[in-house]
Amino acid sequence: MLIDLDVLERNLKKTAELAQGAGVKLRPHFKTHKSVWIARKQIAYGACGLTVAKLGEAEVLADAGFMDLLIAFPLVGEAKLGRLRALIERGIKVTVSTDDVAVAAGISQVGESLNSRLPLYVDVNTGLNRCGREPGEETAALVRHIAAMRGVKVRGLMTHAGHAYGAKQLSELRKVAADEVKGLAQTKALLEQSGIPIPEISVGSTPTSKFIAKQTGATETRPGAYVFGDISQLEIGSISVDELAMSILATVVSTPRPGTVIIDAGSKTFSTDVNPHRPGYGFLKSNPSVYIERLSEEHGIVKVPEGVRYEIGELLEFIPNHCCTVTNLHDSLHGIRNGKVEMMITVDARGRIQ
Ligand SMILES: Cc1ncc(COP(=O)(O)O)c(C=O)c1O
Repeated sequence: MLIDLDVLERNLKKTAELAQGAGVKLRPHFKTHKSVWIARKQIAYGACGLTVAKLGEAEVLADAGFMDLLIAFPLVGEAKLGRLRALIERGIKVTVSTDDVAVAAGISQVGESLNSRLPLYVDVNTGLNRCGREPGEETAALVRHIAAMRGVKVRGLMTHAGHAYGAKQLSELRKVAADEVKGLAQTKALLEQSGIPIPEISVGSTPTSKFIAKQTGATETRPGAYVFGDISQLEIGSISVDELAMSILATVVSTPRPGTVIIDAGSKTFSTDVNPHRPGYGFLKSNPSVYIERLSEEHGIVKVPEGVRYEIGELLEFIPNHCCTVTNLHDSLHGIRNGKVEMMITVDARGRIQ
């Protein structure tokens, strides 16, 4: 797996400048790269802290000295609450998130046992239909309930507009970005009328983060995949080809039939994530009409148009569908500059999925 270091640096800088220009805090999602080295760069470019999906990721960052973390995933069960407690006892500022009274109650017990009120975001659904309550009265009622608990403090409302990746045109994407903040702002207004302040409105996906200057009312943005870029972002026009930092270098190992070559990279290299707009699992960087049609674990079955030939031993560079799931399959990434390997980037939180 190759990471073009110049492109990576440009991506980090551009997104940081967009957030700064909009007066919004940048809290990038760590799950994309899982690398302490890249996380440090994000902080150096002005990120206020990191977002993580899993406690395991938070623990890796805490060990590396990161002090301000958002766990944007519900923490359920005694084992996880114990690990949350351990992080807080180490002095890490951990903000948690939930869309449920029972989950909030578990977190509140941790807070109470520490004589503290743990900062919490309430998760709102703005169209992805994953976690999150509906904006408006449904979320407001939940917030009122949680705000009465003694071991938590509702700091904000949070949403993730992951359905942005299904957008068929730019106008659709723009609307998803507008709706991402609108529902939260309305809910905040409702709550503030009843005396519950909501200091933070936390939004974010890579596609919607491009519109952060127009997302009036947002206080925090949490893009993740922007660091590397991939087909899912390219297909909806949220990045351009020169923002693709990640690629996979594979070797042709067999040419068994006309129109097909086999590479030494399968689902254990590319992941099996598909894209709604484009067939296959990745395309050739130098010729997008050549693409990986099928994957088995160790083999990639590449469809080659008529008139194009590749020989056994030839190296082919592919762009993957989804950079985040690819990273989690690799121990380290080859950081390249001007065609040469400059450094290895360790994927410190690889496999930390709990
Ligand atoms: C809660 C949350 N925030 C932010 C992100 C980052 O979005 P993206 O992957 O588009 O950068 C994700 C991605 O899954 C997420 O789940």
